[in-house]
Amino acid sequence: MLATAEKVLHWPFSRTMHGRPPVEFDLLRTESACPVLLPAGATESRRAWLVTAYDDVRQALADPRLSADEVRPGAPVRIQVPPGERPSSFLRMDDPDHARLRSMITSEFTAHRARAVRPVVQQRIDDLLDILAASPGAADLQQVFTRALPTMIIAGILGVPTADTGNFVELTRTVLSQDDPMVAFAAYQQITQYLRDLAVSKLAEPGEDLMSRVATKHVRTGHLTIDQLVGIARLVLIAGHETTTNQLALNVLSLLLDANLRAQVLTDGGAKIGQYVEEAMRYWSISQDAILRQATVDLELGGVQMRAGDAVVISIPAANNDPAMFADQDVIRLDRDSGKHLQWGYGPHFCLGAPLARLEMELALRSLFERFPSLALAVDDPAPLYRTDTIFFGVKTLPVTWDPELPRR
Ligand code: HEM
Repeated sequence: MLATAEKVLHWPFSRTMHGRPPVEFDLLRTESACPVLLPAGATESRRAWLVTAYDDVRQALADPRLSADEVRPGAPVRIQVPPGERPSSFLRMDDPDHARLRSMITSEFTAHRARAVRPVVQQRIDDLLDILAASPGAADLQQVFTRALPTMIIAGILGVPTADTGNFVELTRTVLSQDDPMVAFAAYQQITQYLRDLAVSKLAEPGEDLMSRVATKHVRTGHLTIDQLVGIARLVLIAGHETTTNQLALNVLSLLLDANLRAQVLTDGGAKIGQYVEEAMRYWSISQDAILRQATVDLELGGVQMRAGDAVVISIPAANNDPAMFADQDVIRLDRDSGKHLQWGYGPHFCLGAPLARLEMELALRSLFERFPSLALAVDDPAPLYRTDTIFFGVKTLPVTWDPELPRR
């Protein structure tokens, strides 16, 4: 039960203005947490509290009284699927189970590890840009680069055979689509089955990859079931793939749309690329509708009294565009402290892949603009490119042109 319900808006809201986070946030942020209606799907719609102010969002993400556990009775779900047993991943578990499973792969995603895979990432980037350079000066960058890169990297980390990665791209995209819950669920089941087969084969014949290492160290010793390994692999695949793809594409897009910004970012050999990546993450805030929690006890948050069992939607885009925290929030500025953005999450579920994603995006931007200094957007208006039907905001395509004759810098 919600304490008050004077106005109940339907969530999620749409982005309308130049791909910026929904205008509703600007109206709501100055108020207390606000009651909203979650989408109806295979199950009936229900109410939730929407938390939008920066301080409240940060506090909520780290608050142990808010459960992320999706198999908890009454837990809210973003993608409505048929009721029944849902194989869970640690993204939607609470400690101690969450911490136990997360700890099994933290060593795969440290900053040290990211530095070690740097040459591999750079090689993949160079290979993809070689293919791009061989085309006649026009391409869909989303297809040939910004989507292909994270797919190849994650497939390599997990130990997915190269021949299967194309199918993965389509399935992952479908899982995260908001169009048809049943289609999304079918794709989810297909990915799960594929990863189960892969896990069994890694257990029998381990290689040099994440799934093999976890299978050998934790499944073989009886500390983890095959299903739990599948849950971990599926989480890494989905969490690390669609996010990095769309964020990288939007990072490129902002530079193509703003010559001034492009000059600032690429000056001095791209010295400001790292700062730019963080600020562009704040600005675009692609993780738009992903964070759902449930109050485990009565508590006060965002100026309202919540009751045990209440559903809570935590809006990272609203927080990242809170003018009380980020002045001039609608402008990409390289002189602000963007590191405080919440686009990687905050608290126990802080993004495990942040060092890897940063590395991929920084190297990709640097190499792309070095090799294609004349890169330009092939359309006048980017609005039709945006994908608004997904949990992670992004672009459907990124049509670009360049002058093949222009020498690289
Ligand atoms: C730009 C790219 C990325 C963005 C914006 C992003 C964003 C996020 C956010 C917001 C969360 C927290 C979700 C929550 O609190 O419920 C999260 C968690 C997670 N991310 Fe990322 N992520 C990105 C890239 C990656 C990559 C490349 C990987 C791995 C290869 C990855 C793996 C994970 C995992 C495993 C979690 C769950 C952590 C936990 O529950 O303890 N992410 N990510």
